[in-house]
Amino acid sequence: MRTILIVGNWKMNKTASEAAAFVHEITHRLPASPGVECVVAPPFTALESVRAALGSTSAIHLGAQNLFWEDRGAYTGEISAPMLKDLGCRYVILGHSERRALFGEQDDGIQKKLRAALAHDLKPILCIGESLAQRENGNTEDVLRQQLNGALAGLSLHSVTAITIAYEPVWAIGTGKAATIDQAVAAHRTIRAFLATMWPANAADATRILYGGSVTPQNIDALLRSDQIDGALIGGACLHADSFVTIATIAQSIGAKP
Ligand code: PGA
Repeated sequence: MRTILIVGNWKMNKTASEAAAFVHEITHRLPASPGVECVVAPPFTALESVRAALGSTSAIHLGAQNLFWEDRGAYTGEISAPMLKDLGCRYVILGHSERRALFGEQDDGIQKKLRAALAHDLKPILCIGESLAQRENGNTEDVLRQQLNGALAGLSLHSVTAITIAYEPVWAIGTGKAATIDQAVAAHRTIRAFLATMWPANAADATRILYGGSVTPQNIDALLRSDQIDGALIGGACLHADSFVTIATIAQSIGAKP
């Protein structure tokens, strides 16, 4: 059984007070549902106010957008896994394509971040995805396998079961041009097949694979109805209470995958 996971990646949006007001609104409108897990990933500066606004009984969990792999030390401007854990984070997004493209993140560093998250009992959401040029050159599958291998090679079975993968084609992020269901399903199959080459098939079957890239209230239903797509990583559409609540409500109506 793979529980649907809906993750709102706020990126660099909302101050701490805006974030708290937003969370009050969505928690009032969104009841808990056993078949769906919801996560909000605000900027670091809003984690505390979002945690307070969520309260202890909320149906929504807290996530962070990044971390640095060392626990502490002279790393100006960085945030560690124990710091996030202490603030109540359950999830952390790692290897987002904006971090790869704008901040030079590479697979070996992403692997270190992943290991740090796991060591501190944070659940990593590992983002992978091809650029438009890579897709047009027919390299999508190779790129996905390379990114998976770079981030995951050497991880134990126990570790890998804690990880969620987010397939986010770079050309679909923030463009309003989501992948088709067929494109997303093909990529998810490639990912699951790769996982099955590295770990026992039941681990691959149990791993959640999210789709991300221009997810909206209009396309979420069709995406989640595929048995390969276990949830969504959402940018723009998660910043508005109406669209986030609509997406989460549609996910709840679809429920857990067999
Ligand atoms: P988008 O962003 O939904 O705005 O396309 C998705 C993401 O970057 O995770």
